[in-house]
Amino acid sequence: MKIQFNRFFTRSLLTAVLAGVAGVAAATTTVEVYKSPTCGCCAKWVDHMRDNGFTVNIHDTGNDETRAEAGILPELGSCHTAMIDGYAIEGHVPASDVKQLLKERPRAVGLSAPGMPHGSPGMETGRVDTYNVLLIRKPGDKRSAAEIYNRYGPDKPQPAEKASESNTTQSILKLK
Ligand code: CU
Ligand code: CU
Repeated sequence: MKIQFNRFFTRSLLTAVLAGVAGVAAATTTVEVYKSPTCGCCAKWVDHMRDNGFTVNIHDTGNDETRAEAGILPELGSCHTAMIDGYAIEGHVPASDVKQLLKERPRAVGLSAPGMPHGSPGMETGRVDTYNVLLIRKPGDKRSAAEIYNRYGPDKPQPAEKASESNTTQSILKLK
């Protein structure tokens, strides 16, 4: 009887600890955005993230340093870098991809939408280009440095076509 009680107590304690951990994870979905103070499209991307339920803190310090610290190459870079729950989000990545990333939690640096693709969130210029959101791998990962996480725009491929795409960073950049 005593043993059973202890087991029950231990299990309850464990459940409480796990619930606490889950609470912490939910609380860290604040997005820390590093951008230039004069970047208009960055401000629009911040609005897009807030509209999708994220809490955003803005740091008007530029983003070169944060991007380098995160481990994203300049050629995969964009106008702003955001940090969220241990991941880096570079450029005009749709909030839906950020949510997918936080749900799937892959071993990766984060996501990037290199350059400033027209038609991406915050870049509503009237022109809509095809662009890739890339999953940036951690340095030393045996897999390719980056792979296509999602593709947007008029040339968004059918699932079969997507599966056959090459994985190298070089060819991903050409597909832009
Ligand atoms: Cu921009
Ligand atoms: Cu920006």
